[in-house]
Amino acid sequence: MPLMNKVALITGAAQGIGRRTAQVLAGRGFDLVLNDLHRPAETIASLGGKVEVLEALADVSDEAQVLRMVAQVRERFGGLDVLVNNAGISFIKPAEAIESAEWKRVMEVNLFGPFVLSREFGKMMLGAGSGSIVNIASVAGLVGIGDRAAYNASKHGLIGLTRTLAAEWGGRGVRVNAVCPGWVKTEMDEKDLGSGAYTDADIENRVPMGRFATPDDIAQAVAFLADNKQSAFVNGHCLSVDGGWASDGSWDSLRLKKR
Ligand SMILES: NC(=O)c1ccc[n+]([C@@H]2O[C@H](COP(=O)([O-])OP(=O)(O)OC[C@H]3O[C@@H](n4cnc5c(N)ncnc54)[C@H](O)[C@@H]3O)[C@@H](O)[C@H]2O)c1
Repeated sequence: MPLMNKVALITGAAQGIGRRTAQVLAGRGFDLVLNDLHRPAETIASLGGKVEVLEALADVSDEAQVLRMVAQVRERFGGLDVLVNNAGISFIKPAEAIESAEWKRVMEVNLFGPFVLSREFGKMMLGAGSGSIVNIASVAGLVGIGDRAAYNASKHGLIGLTRTLAAEWGGRGVRVNAVCPGWVKTEMDEKDLGSGAYTDADIENRVPMGRFATPDDIAQAVAFLADNKQSAFVNGHCLSVDGGWASDGSWDSLRLKKR
């Protein structure tokens, strides 16, 4: 493992995509700040003590808690090289039934949280003249998907934020990109599946590559965008990791005939 003294912060690191991202970045030699609402104990155990880890419990939608986390990071590491805005919540409900408080909560976690973290850690990165921010958006940030008005609007907004920060900060050494996963097998998906919103076959049939993404598929794309050598001139990009979902305008029988 290369020693590089670089530090990456991952929000929502206690499970799913966040946990796998922590493991992959640790494998590339990053020291880690692991944020979540609850202690990311299993994630830390899985890292086997290979890198320095700071636990930073905070709700990303709570500005005061984010500011505390910023102070913790400054005190422990003195700066931050990579910010992965991964924490997010799913929300499935017909648009006409969404209550205002529900809409606001989705926006607070999925869009305000990434903004306030980007603003605060972005200031640190701009001061250092380098940094990489990776926002975990979604295929739901690229196309409309029924019963997901709040979630899809939050992810479309996150892509807009990504492009705008890339435009503002690229000239000062801070790159900002997004990863757009298709459906990923995580606890989030288990919960949504459990609610009867869709079946495994619905997803597998929709994806040209015929399967769900794994957390590792997403984490490898994050690691690419995090690495200043591998993606030095990639800025403002939304990297689809969806097996071809967003590119595929085929009707179902045409797609399935090609398998
Ligand atoms: N699973 C999918 O199919 C899928 C597809 C596309 C995009 N995504 C996005 O990827 C990201 C991670 O998804 P996942 O499937 O690993 O989800 P998950 O629900 O399995 O894990 C999310 C983690 O974020 C944490 N979290 C939630 N709200 C938080 C908050 N306010 N502050 C701090 N931490 C918080 C949770 O405690 C949890 O540990 C999300 O932004 C999600 O929208 C997921």
